[in-house]
Amino acid sequence: MKHIAVLASGRGTNLQAIIDNIENGTIPAKLVCVISDNKEAPALERARRHNIEALYIDPGSKKTWLIPEVEEKYVKVLKDRNVDLVCLAGFMRVLKKTFLSAFKGRILNIHPALLPAFPGLDVQRKALEYGVKFSGCTVHFVTEDVDAGPIITQAAVPVLDDDTPETLARRILKEEHRIYTEAINIVLSGKYKIIGRRVIRTD
Ligand code: GAR
Repeated sequence: MKHIAVLASGRGTNLQAIIDNIENGTIPAKLVCVISDNKEAPALERARRHNIEALYIDPGSKKTWLIPEVEEKYVKVLKDRNVDLVCLAGFMRVLKKTFLSAFKGRILNIHPALLPAFPGLDVQRKALEYGVKFSGCTVHFVTEDVDAGPIITQAAVPVLDDDTPETLARRILKEEHRIYTEAINIVLSGKYKIIGRRVIRTD
């Protein structure tokens, strides 16, 4: 059974969807730990409620990325638990070399926009203000370029005339919960190859 870990900074609804889909057998893996850079993250509480190890690792700085010494701590925890796949689910810090090289090709992220449109933060508001008629979400491999790794799966949702960033975010979130599981299962199955930037399924 493959071991997965989730990194989350906040509310943890994507984490919850992953937990639920592991418990109901949709994802054939064991969630061995949830790690947060935020002691107060509701995501940690969600993990504890399901008897999943929940760890806070002090980011040690207010930087938007993890410094190498802290990345080493994350990597140690993950290696000690034989983690095969790391899933970022609302983890609000950028990962750098130490982390990326330890789990090359084995880190996924979910982003609430149709990349390469609207990378970064507050993207539902940006999509709305830009005037796009569709937005959505993307699950991609994490590489050094932020929000720019090979795309595993995406889902589109319409942008409605009376949307606010909150109503659009809610519509997108529902799809996030669905496609993150889909992407995890593709990667766990190993039935894909990456050609250039393209993730091609081989089953
Ligand atoms: C989700 O919408 C996720 O796509 C986004 O944060 C939210 C976390 O919600 N991630 C990013 O913006 C990453 N840059 P959740 O804690 O309820 O899963």
